[in-house]
Parts: sequence; C-alpha cells; structure tokens
Amino acid sequence: MSLFLGLDVGTQGTKGVVLDAAEGRVLARASVGYGLLEGLGPGVCEQHPQTWIAAVRTVATELLGAEGVEEARFEGVGVSGQQHGLVVLDEAGEVVRPAKLWCDTSTASEARELGEALGSPVPTGFTASKVLWLARHEPRNWERVRHVLLPHDFVNFVLTGRACMEAGDASGTGFFDPRSRTFDPHRVAVVDPLLAERLPPLLAPGEAAGCLSAGGAALLGLSEGVLVSAGGGDNMMSAVGSGATRPGVVVVSLGTSGTVFTHADAPVIDPEGLIAPFCSSTGGWLPLLCVMNLTGVSEEVREGFGGGHESLTAAAREVPVGCDGLLWLPYLGGERVPDLPDAAGTLLGMRAGHLRGGVLYRAALEGTSLNLAWGVERMRGLGIAVEGVHLVGGAAQNELWREILADVLACPITPLAEPESAALGAALQAVWTSRRAAGDEIGPDEVAAPFVQAVAAPTEPDAGRGAAYAELSERFREAVAAQYAEP
Ligand code: XUL
Repeated sequence: MSLFLGLDVGTQGTKGVVLDAAEGRVLARASVGYGLLEGLGPGVCEQHPQTWIAAVRTVATELLGAEGVEEARFEGVGVSGQQHGLVVLDEAGEVVRPAKLWCDTSTASEARELGEALGSPVPTGFTASKVLWLARHEPRNWERVRHVLLPHDFVNFVLTGRACMEAGDASGTGFFDPRSRTFDPHRVAVVDPLLAERLPPLLAPGEAAGCLSAGGAALLGLSEGVLVSAGGGDNMMSAVGSGATRPGVVVVSLGTSGTVFTHADAPVIDPEGLIAPFCSSTGGWLPLLCVMNLTGVSEEVREGFGGGHESLTAAAREVPVGCDGLLWLPYLGGERVPDLPDAAGTLLGMRAGHLRGGVLYRAALEGTSLNLAWGVERMRGLGIAVEGVHLVGGAAQNELWREILADVLACPITPLAEPESAALGAALQAVWTSRRAAGDEIGPDEVAAPFVQAVAAPTEPDAGRGAAYAELSERFREAVAAQYAEP
C-alpha cells in the first residue's frame, strides 16, 4: 500500500501526482491542458465539467503507466479544484449546463446587487452571483437543478457517487459563514429561495468524501473501495502542499490567478471583503488574496511576440526597473482586487522603442507584481505578518520574477521544490484522512511538513531596487485611481 493519487483540476489543465507516503517522495507526475469554451460573450468564462473528467482519465492513465506505480498499492485519492465555479446537476446526476468559472466576470451586476441586499460585498468570482445569474437568465435550467456543487465536489461525485462539500471550498461560495463553518441560511435564501434544498451536506474536517465507486475506479484505473478524501479548492490544497498548515508561513502562488494566503487558527474577516475569509480544508482558516491577472499577462506577450518565456525573461532582464516609464495596469479580464470586474488593461507612458517583447514582458511582470503587492499590503493591514514567502505555481521558477517580487514585497522569496503544490496537497490530505481513519490522531501539518522543501536559496530584496519600486507603487495606485475612477 502507501501510494496516494493527488489530482488538481485547474482552469488551464489538470495535473496529477502519485505520492509514496512510506518513502516520502513523489513517484510520478502528469498533466494535460485544455481551454475555456470559445465564442462566448465578454467576461464569460465557462468550461464543461466533462472536460475535467476526460482530463482526469488521461492524467490517471499516464500516472498508472509510470515506472514503480503499482495499482494494487493505492490507498487513497485526493482532489483539488479551481474554486468558486458553479456546477449544476439534475436529478440523474447529469450536468445541466457548462460551469461558470471563478474568472467569469459576466455576473458582476448580480454580485453588486447581492452585496447591496446582504449589506456586505460579494466578490464577482464567488459562486453566489453565478447562482443568481442562472436563476434569472436561464430559469428552465435552474428549475432542472437538484445539486449545486463546486468543481472539485463534482469530480468527487463522479468518483464516489456522493454529493458533498467541505468547508474550504464552500467558504468561496459567498453564502457560507466561515466563523461557524456552515452555510449561512440568510445569505442562501437571499441568493435564491430554492438554493437551500439544492446544497449537499457538509463534511467535517478530516472526513472522507467516500470510496471509489465501480465507475470511479474504472475512470482512474484503480480498485473499487479506495478512499477518496474530502479534497478542497486549489488554494486550500496548495496550502497543504506548501507549508501553510501552520501559522507564520505565507505562500504566494503564481498561476492563472495570483494568490497569497496563510494559515490562521481563527477566521480573519476583511470588512471590505477584498481579502477572502476562507476556511482551510483541514479544519483551520485561510485568509487569501486573489488577483485575477497574473501569468496570463506575460503569456499574452509571449503569444504576441513569439519566442519562449526564457528568452523573453532574458530580454526583460536587460530593461531597467520601471521599464523607462512604461507602466501596465494589467486588468486584461477585469479584476477582483481591486474590485474592477469590468475593467480592461491600460498601458501608460508608451514611448518609441517600448513596443518590444522584452520591455512589454518586464512591464507585465512589474504590473502584475505591483498589483499583487497592493493586496499584500491590505493583508498586512489586517494583522497578517508577511516577512518571508514560499513561492509556488507554474511561474515560481522564473528568477527575474522572484527578484521583482522580493523587491516589491520587501521580503525574501523561497521557491519550493514542488511547484504543483495543489496536486501534492490533495495527495497529502488523502494521507492524513487515511491515517485518521486508521485511528491515528496525527495533524495535517505533521503529515505535510516533510514534503515542503525549498528548491533554491531565498531571493533577498535589494534596497536600491526596492526604493525604486516603492515609488513605482505610488504611481501605480494613483494611475489606477485616475484611470478607473467612477465618472
Ligand atoms: C481564488 C480563486 C482562484 C481559483 C483558481 O479565490 O478564485 O485562485 O481558485 O483556480
């Protein structure tokens, strides 16, 4: 025994790892990419949940074929998923319509309306506004719905046959009370009077979602009855795989979204609602900053100018701090923090010679980092100390980006050995759940800590560049205020 499968069903693809808990190492990794549904209106970001299931099958098949991975040794499975997406199933468990995703900003007016009705802000990305949008714009579809789930809950449902949620991902719905770790009946009713009866039961921390059904076992190529842990949102699972299972560790994840989070032993509530008051998926809390525009911005430059990220990074290194005055307010798909769901990006200070791959690439890294740092300052304002950071996600290996982050956040940045921290965290949560089921009272931190390792020495901030970025930061904030002020 002792093998655990961790799956992370993301926005751009699904990743998987096989963990050997006895040997303390990852035996195999696999991933497959996919995109958003095409041809939809402005701000609409959707995927069909069956796309994720097909990807899970492909990834599992590849992992099960890897050297040293024996099917008979699997003890558990854990699933991580992009947060907030609305998955709606009918009585027979069939998907009613494609999922509206965390990055869909087409429900911004419903989010505003709910915020006013509830007297506290509801971020556009959260599930609540998507439910209201569905009930209002597609009443026939809403009428058919029997189960409201989040992306990772849907994968768990396909694997086990059981519809359930756990507090981590559920705390991103906008109708959950993170203090009591239960759905908030008032918020649920305000979103829609029928929502309450369509929500699944909640799991307790450390409780399993179930076991692989015959269908789930066939999908993964594993045996029926293998434990499936509760799983969680990708940030909750990433927290387990990156050391944020104890207070004091702050993690920055550079993925499609940029997130900054830390473990807390009690809920952390931002009165303005910009720092999300999430629960963790292991019984604690996870205050989190999420910006919607991160690697997609530099990716846009790569697509436009060709070449690879490495050559663009090398060219960007030759460009001075501040890009000779070129500043990118990087809100290509609207933004959650600051709350600008309808915004488009803005390039300021464009001069002759700026329309080069290296200059724009640096402007993308700087603009997204300055925006992230603005949110981090808000976290600091809520009493969260950010004195050093664990860096994960696809872009964590980019040394120039690490340098810029160290300078704008004014703290050392340590890249972790496993950038796919969400898939690793999902596997580790399954280890924890399995050990608890066997009567072992071990905590999640004790299970996960040995797997959290640095891959390089921390990148230290530089005082000179830091001072230049502090000035740039002022300019960035003033420019955002001027550019996006209400008329
Ligand atoms: C967090 C958020 C994103 C998604 C990305 O609130 O919306 O980080 O979870 O998959």
